Amino acid sequence: MKYTISLFILIAVTFFFVGSGIAADNKYVGVKTCSMCHKSDAKGNQLKVWNESAHAKAFTTLTSEASAKIAKEKGLKKPASESPECLTCHAVTADAKLLDKGFDVKDGVQCESCHGAGSNYKAMGVMKDKVKAIAAGLTEYKDEAAIEKQCKTCHNEKSPTFKEFKFKTMWDKIKHPAKKS
Ligand code: HEC
Ligand code: HEC
Ligand code: HEC
Ligand code: HEC
Repeated sequence: MKYTISLFILIAVTFFFVGSGIAADNKYVGVKTCSMCHKSDAKGNQLKVWNESAHAKAFTTLTSEASAKIAKEKGLKKPASESPECLTCHAVTADAKLLDKGFDVKDGVQCESCHGAGSNYKAMGVMKDKVKAIAAGLTEYKDEAAIEKQCKTCHNEKSPTFKEFKFKTMWDKIKHPAKKS
C-alpha cells in the first residue's frame, strides 16, 4: 500500500513538471540559435547590436591582463576565466546539464542572460505569441524599472571595476528594438 502511494506521488510529480510548461528542463541554447531568426535589418537586427556591445566580449575580457591582475589581487586560485567569482557576471554559469549542444560559454553575456533559457520558447509558433513565449520561460519585463533591476544584478558594487550605473545612458547603448516595418 505504501509503495503504491509513493508510486502515485512520483507519477503525479512527474506530470506536474512536464505539464507546467516552464519545466525544469529549459536549456540554454546559445546566441547562435537565437540569432537564426533575429538578424534581419527589417526587424532591428538584435544580433548586430549584441555583437557590437561589450556583452559579446565579456568572457574574453576575463582572459586579459587586467583580469589576471584583479584575480591575483583577490587571491583567486584559478585564472579569472575559470573562476566562478568572475564568470557569474561575465558569462552564463548554469549547470552543464542545462547547456544545449550549440551553447558556448565564450559568448559571454548573451541573449539568454537577459531573456531566460530558451529551449522551450525558441520555436517559431511559440515566439510569435508573447503569452505563450512567457509561459515557456521567456523573461517578462513589465516596465523600465524591471529592466533596470535586471541590469543591476551584474552592474553593481560587487563588480571589481564598478564605478556607477546610469541606466538610461547604458540602456541606450545596447537596446535593440524590433523596428516596425
Ligand atoms: C525560429 C525563429 C526564432 C528563434 C530561433 C528565436 N526567435 Fe525570438 N522571436 C521570433 C519571432 C518570429 C518573434 C516575434 C516578433 C517578430 O516577428 O520579430 C520573436 C520575438 C522575440 C522576442 C520579443 C518578444 C515580445 O513579443 O516582446 C524576444 C525577446 C525574443 N524573440 C528573444 C529570443 C531569444 C533570446 C532566442 C534564443 C533563445 C530567440 N528569440 C529565438 C523568432 C525566433
Ligand atoms: C549577466 C550580467 C550582466 C547583465 C544582466 C547586464 N550586464 Fe551589462 N555588462 C556586463 C559585463 C560583464 C560587462 C563588461 C563587459 C566587458 O567589457 O568585457 C558589461 C558591460 C556593459 C556595457 C558597456 C560598458 C560601458 O560603460 O559602456 C553596457 C552599455 C551595458 N553593459 C549595459 C547593460 C544594460 C543596459 C543592462 C540591462 C538591460 C545590462 N548591461 C545587463 C554584465 C551584465
Ligand atoms: C557583480 C558582477 C561582476 C563580477 C562578480 C565581476 N565582474 Fe567584471 N565587470 C562587470 C561589469 C558590469 C563590468 C562593466 C562595468 C563595470 O566596470 O562595472 C565589468 C567589467 C570588467 C572589466 C573591464 C573594465 C574596463 O574598464 O573595461 C574587467 C577587466 C573585469 N570586469 C574583470 C573581472 C574579474 C577578473 C572578475 C573576477 C575577479 C570580475 N570582473 C567579476 C561585472 C562583474
Ligand atoms: C543585457 C540584457 C540583454 C541582452 C544581452 C539581450 N537582450 Fe534582448 N532585450 C532586453 C530587454 C530588457 C528588452 C526589452 C524588454 C522586452 O522586450 O522584453 C529586450 C528586447 C528584445 C526583443 C524585442 C524587441 C521589440 O522591440 O519587441 C528582441 C527580439 C530581443 N530582445 C532579442 C534579443 C536577442 C536575439 C539577443 C541576443 C543576440 C538579445 N536580445 C540580447 C535585454 C537583453
